[in-house]
Amino acid sequence: MSDPTASVMLPVSEQGYSILVQFKIAILNISSADRKVFCQRISKQLRLGDFPFIFAGVLLAKRERLTEAEDMLSMATKNSFAQHLKRYLGSRNPLSVSPYASESALPLNAWTRTPISCLEMRKTVAAFTEFALAGKRLVGGETLSILDIGTGNGILLSLLVNRLTQVHKFPIVRLFLLDSSAEMLRVASHNCRQIVSVPLHISTIHRPIELLGKAHISSLQKENLTFTMSAGCLHHLPDKRKQHAFSLIRKFSQKLLMEELEANHDLPDTDSPELVWSVQCFYSSLINSVKHSRLTPLEKRKCIDDFLLAEAVGILEHPRNTRGNFHTVCNEWSRIAHAGGFQVSGIRTTILNKHGLRSLAFDLTSDLS
Ligand SMILES: C[S@@+](CC[C@H](N)C(=O)[O-])C[C@H]1O[C@@H](n2cnc3c(N)ncnc32)[C@H](O)[C@@H]1O
Repeated sequence: MSDPTASVMLPVSEQGYSILVQFKIAILNISSADRKVFCQRISKQLRLGDFPFIFAGVLLAKRERLTEAEDMLSMATKNSFAQHLKRYLGSRNPLSVSPYASESALPLNAWTRTPISCLEMRKTVAAFTEFALAGKRLVGGETLSILDIGTGNGILLSLLVNRLTQVHKFPIVRLFLLDSSAEMLRVASHNCRQIVSVPLHISTIHRPIELLGKAHISSLQKENLTFTMSAGCLHHLPDKRKQHAFSLIRKFSQKLLMEELEANHDLPDTDSPELVWSVQCFYSSLINSVKHSRLTPLEKRKCIDDFLLAEAVGILEHPRNTRGNFHTVCNEWSRIAHAGGFQVSGIRTTILNKHGLRSLAFDLTSDLS
């Protein structure tokens, strides 16, 4: 599966899609034995590997038919998402978690030590450095001031500041950390002070970006930010709110460097084949990276259950506007940023694994309004 879009978009023709829609209706109303035969037949006909078993397992789990769901998922022996979802279903109430991943920093701290996350951060630092230096906008001798939206544990920001301060000398470095989680802000402040090798002035803003009020906006306008960045955060908003967030950011920042992993979790309907396809491709990739990391068994379990599966289940279970995670595709990000008042001045895409999972880094610019 080397085509990057195949990991995001269901690779079937229109005719194949209508076969899957009929499959979805029929699969809930036949015996277990017939269901297996039916899945095998559809898998062969549409060349979708284990997907019919996973699709059937998810549909059954959502109707609280857990034994039948586990039976289907156990057939997808090579799919990490299916195997972990099966274990997860056996250990808690059927698909009934909050759509929001854990408030604790532990799962995210563990995640940032996995191979995919380390590669993603390295590539993001390289892309953001290139974007920040483009057009010689960033010059030494002045204050470097950065707002990081959804700063998480602050490691990405710290690595970027270290890189930029190797290129230029800045007499003052000011960091504005924004996050909806107080715990993340505490961890990020600590990590920035530990990792960044120059003296820092740190301010924190404890607020979801889409709820930034007039007072915050006018004080950020006075800060003359060098740029704003946001990595792995804006996908927490559905498309209309993403657009609203862009239009708020545009009020105080002319340059927004954004990074997101690509998937198709925003637009497809609940229980649609394309949503389940994208979720199983995306979260299998991430779970595999955790499995192949050097995390302890407890860290692996926390990262998979409290972070990755909690997100995946939130996407599958909750109605469209309340999924908690709304990863979207490259063209959609460009469209939404544009609708929010930003121009796309550059895009860097990086393929992170053999399944074509992509990281998207955007250089977005705007005149202040
Ligand atoms: C996956 S982490 C990304 C952390 C970091 N930027 C990175 O790339 O490693 C997402 C962070 O965004 C925060 N977050 C989620 N929704 C948010 C929102 N609406 N506004 C601000 N922060 C949000 C979460 O608390 C979390 O710390």
